[in-house]
Amino acid sequence: MDHSDRIADLVESLTRAEKLALVHGAPDPDGTATGYLPGVDRVGVPELKLADGPLGVRTPGQAATAFPASIALAATFDDELARRQGAAIGREANARGQDVLLGPGLNLIRVPHCGRNFEYFSEDPVLTGAFAGAVVEGVQSEDVVATPKHFVANNQETKRTRVSADVSERALRECYLPGFRAAVDAGAGAMMTAYNRVNGTHVSDHHRLLTEILKDEWEFEGFVMSDWFGTETTVGAANAGLDLEMPGITSEEMMESFDMPDLELSDIDFGNADALPTPETAGTRMFAEPLDEAIDAGEVPEARLDDMVARILGQMERFGVLDDERNEGEIDTPEHRKIAEAVATRGTVLLENDGVLPLDDHADVAVVGPAANVAMLGGGGSSEMTAFDETPTVDGIRERSRGTVTYAQGVPEIEIPSFFDDIFGDDEEDGDGEPGDVAIDDAVEAARTADVAVVVVQDATTEAEDRDDLRLPGDQDDLVEAVAAANDRTVVVVQSSGPVELPWRDDVAAVVESWYPGQADGDAVASVLYGDADAGGRLPVTFAPESAYPATEPHQYPGVDDEVRYDEGVFVGYRHFDDTDAEPTYPFGHGLSYAEFDYRDVEMVDDETVRVTVENTSARDGREVVQAYVRPPRVADVDRPLREFAGHTAVEIPAGESVTVDVTLDDLAFRRYDESDGWTVDPGAYGVEVGRSSRDVRVETGVSR
Ligand code: BGC
Repeated sequence: MDHSDRIADLVESLTRAEKLALVHGAPDPDGTATGYLPGVDRVGVPELKLADGPLGVRTPGQAATAFPASIALAATFDDELARRQGAAIGREANARGQDVLLGPGLNLIRVPHCGRNFEYFSEDPVLTGAFAGAVVEGVQSEDVVATPKHFVANNQETKRTRVSADVSERALRECYLPGFRAAVDAGAGAMMTAYNRVNGTHVSDHHRLLTEILKDEWEFEGFVMSDWFGTETTVGAANAGLDLEMPGITSEEMMESFDMPDLELSDIDFGNADALPTPETAGTRMFAEPLDEAIDAGEVPEARLDDMVARILGQMERFGVLDDERNEGEIDTPEHRKIAEAVATRGTVLLENDGVLPLDDHADVAVVGPAANVAMLGGGGSSEMTAFDETPTVDGIRERSRGTVTYAQGVPEIEIPSFFDDIFGDDEEDGDGEPGDVAIDDAVEAARTADVAVVVVQDATTEAEDRDDLRLPGDQDDLVEAVAAANDRTVVVVQSSGPVELPWRDDVAAVVESWYPGQADGDAVASVLYGDADAGGRLPVTFAPESAYPATEPHQYPGVDDEVRYDEGVFVGYRHFDDTDAEPTYPFGHGLSYAEFDYRDVEMVDDETVRVTVENTSARDGREVVQAYVRPPRVADVDRPLREFAGHTAVEIPAGESVTVDVTLDDLAFRRYDESDGWTVDPGAYGVEVGRSSRDVRVETGVSR
C-alpha cells in the first residue's frame, strides 16, 4: 500500500518501541475512552481516543443523545436520515474528545435470538449495505473515524469467543460480507474484527479475510483492530493483517482506568462465562513485547509493523487528528434531539390496524405495561447509553392526549441486563414498581373504563447473551390477553430488539413495533399513535414463530462442539421463507400506512432503474417505502432465492396525489457467487417486482442480463 510521503517519513523516524506503542492500546488517563493510544510526543503524534457506539457516544459517567437502536434506524428505510444520525453521533464524539467511533454494528441478522440484533440493521445484505454506507459517511463527515464491526459472521452471542462459523464462500460473499464491503466503499477508516472463528480460524488470525479480501481485493486502506481482548496470537494476527490490538491492556488496568481498581473483569456478570475473553482465554498485550520478540526472531517482518503504524497514522492524518485540527463538536443540541425523535418516529412499524389507529385526540387512554414508564434506550452491553433527557412512552402519550390518561404497570418490571450496572453500580431506579406493587387486575380495571388501552411490552436483550426464545419475558403475554379481553380497542406497542412472538395478535385492535426507540420513545410513539406522522417504518427482518426460521437444528444454531454450520447457505431471512413456502407472521418489508397506495405503470428506464407511479388514494398524506425485488432466472444446478431485495425509495405522497418513483437496483441482487468462477451474472430474464413488502408485490416488469 502507498502511504503519503509524510506518513512514510514519520514511520521511518519512529523507534521500534514507539511503533509498538501505536499498535496496542493503553489506559486512557482521562478514563473516558473505551480504547486509547498514547501517541508519540517526541514526534508530535497526538493521542487517539476510541469510544463505543453504535447508538450514540458512550463515555463512562457522561450523558449523550441516546439515538434509536440500529434496527430501528434500518426500519426507517431512509438512508438520508441515517446519514444525519451518523453525523450527529460524529459531532457528539467530537464534543466528548473522541476520535474514533466503535460502530456501526452491521452483522447480518441470521438468527432471531442473537442478543445484539438491535445493534445491527437487517437480515438482508443490500439493506444492511445501504445503512452501513450511510452511517459511515455521516460519522466521517464530522472527521470522526467510523469502525464497522464485527467483521465477520459474528451472528450470535452464545459462545461468541469460541464458535467457528462454518460458512460457504458463497454465503459469505452474497450475505455476510456485502455490508462490510459497502462500509469500505463508503470510506470507513477502521474495521473491528469479530470474536468468533470463521471456518476454524479466529478472525483476527484470518489472513484470507483480513488481507486477501479486505485489504487486497477491497482496497481497504484503514486499520483493522481486534475486538476487546479479542487478539489471540501475536505472529498469527500480525501476519494475518491485524493492525491494532484492543484494548491492549490487562483487565486490571482497564478497571483502574475506570477508577475501580478493586473490581476484576471476572467479577462482572456477563451472563455466560464465554462472553468476554479473559487473559486466560485470550491474550492481551500480544502486540507489545511479544511482537517485538517476534520481529527479532524473524517471524513477523518489520515491514508489517511499519504498515500497521502507517495505516493508523494515515487515518489520523486523513481525519485531522495528526494536525490537531479537531472539530469542537456539539452535544445534546435541539437538532440532535430532533434527529433522535425523527428516526424513532419514522422507524416505528404499524404491524396491524383494524382502524383503531390513529387515536382520537380526546380518547381516554389507559396506558399499561412495564415498558411504558421507561424510555427504552437499548439492550445491555457496550452500546448502553445514558441520555440527558428521555421521554417514557406514557409521558409522551400524556403530553399529546386531550383526554384522560391513566397508567398501570400490570406486571413487574422487566429488567434489561446491564454491563455497566456491574461496573459502576446501579444507583438508578428503573420503573415504578416492585413485584408486590403491581397486579394485572389493576391494568384490566383501568382498561375496562377507558376508550382505548395501549399496552407497552418489551423484550430484554444484551450483548454477550442470546435470547432463549422469542416470547415476551415475564407475564406480559398474559397482561395483553387480559387487557384485550377487557377492552376491544386495545393497541399493543412492542419495544423489542427484533422479532418476538405475538400470540395474541388476532385478539387486539392494533400492533405497533417501536424497537428500542431511544430517548425520544414517548414522543415518537405518541406521534405515530395519534397520526401526527404516518406510520412510516417497514420491517428489516421477518417476524415468524421461532420454529419457522432457518437454522433451527442445534448444529446450525447455537452449534455443536463449538461449531455452527451455516448450511442454510444463502437462504437467510425472507429467502428461507420464500424457499420453503413458509408463511411468516409479518414478512420482510411489511409495514402498514395510514394512507393507501396504488401502484401502476411500471417500467425499466435503464438496466438498473425501475420506474413506477404510486398514487395515494386516501384522504391522508402518507409515506410510502417503494421496494424492488429481483427474481433471478432458474439456472440448472444452482439454488437461488426466489427473490432478492434490490433497493428502495421512500416518498411522501400528499392525499390524492401521484408521484413517479425511481428505484435503483443493486447489482448484488443480480449476481451470484460461484465457488469456481467467482461473481457471475447468469444471462437471462430477471423479473423485477415492485411493491409494499417481499410478500405484497404490486406490479412487475423485467430486464434481461
Ligand atoms: C464489543 C464491541 C465493543 C467493545 C468495546 C466488546 O465487548 O463486542 O462491540 O466495541 O467491547 O466496548
